Amino acid sequence: MKRDFLSIADHDRSEIEAILEDAARLKADLRAGRGERPLLGTTLAMIFEKPSLRTRVTFETGIKQLGGASVYLAPNDIQLGARETVADIARNLSCWVDLIMARTFSHASMIELARHATVPVINGLSDLNHPCQVLADCQTLLENRERLDGLTVAFIGDGNNVVPSWWQAAARLGIRFRLACPAGYEPDPALVAQAQDKAVGSIEILRDPGEAVTDADALYTDVWTSMGQEAEAQVRREAFAGYQVNAALLAKARPDALVMHCLPAHRGEEITAEVVDGPQSVVLQQAENRLHAQKAVMVRLAAARGQGAKA
Ligand code: CP
Ligand code: NVA
Repeated sequence: MKRDFLSIADHDRSEIEAILEDAARLKADLRAGRGERPLLGTTLAMIFEKPSLRTRVTFETGIKQLGGASVYLAPNDIQLGARETVADIARNLSCWVDLIMARTFSHASMIELARHATVPVINGLSDLNHPCQVLADCQTLLENRERLDGLTVAFIGDGNNVVPSWWQAAARLGIRFRLACPAGYEPDPALVAQAQDKAVGSIEILRDPGEAVTDADALYTDVWTSMGQEAEAQVRREAFAGYQVNAALLAKARPDALVMHCLPAHRGEEITAEVVDGPQSVVLQQAENRLHAQKAVMVRLAAARGQGAKA
């Protein structure tokens, strides 16, 4: 049966834990020079409506390491939904490739793509979710803390796409997740209710960054202005002025708290250079783990479909 990876919410706790175990094994194998090639001869199409460094390079490198190849479709190449419908693009790509990864403006386009594709679709960021990022983040936390259950993650800043994925992960994996953001910058409250359904973790929305980071195991932040919101940059700079992750805020967390950021970072805005480049920062470990976590997702989705290469 075809499975997609559109959001963390599509997967239960045991599946997420299994993906994280696979990711750890793939990382160890790669480091030991024991690279397996379970996706030999497969092809991944990568649709990008927005720019990317990490997502593009880690998917392209990942599929290659697994024995497959990739096709990069830049924002102007296929003009998702403009030159032809999302459904037609999904149906055509399914004739040629074995997996599709997409970075879209709208999450509705992601769902439409998955609905009409007969091959698995992976969300490489939409306006609503960034599940691959949060998988890699969980892998990073596990590597540093050896558990996820009972950890407190404080997210300071914009409640955009990364936060709903974190809510879903926290709820399933037993993490206490606190978001501190200015009023009006939290995700749709309906998403909290959705994430909290059968939750073992907890979700809090606070206004005070100091309160959010108290006793936190990790401080997380993301840009104040996400891709596509550039016209709001000045308004956002003003709204988020008190929400910078800096040394004073870090001092209020646990002394060994990890500093996390999905990157790209805007030093001097949501985080200071001193903190993002400091000794508690694990941002490059998060970036590295994108590779391993996504390889685990690709292998699992291909296996669920009983898939070999199309050719
Ligand atoms: N974190 C992340 O998704 O980075 P890119 O936008 O560079 O892909
Ligand atoms: N929230 C950011 C994440 C970038 C990886 C954005 O959507 O631009």
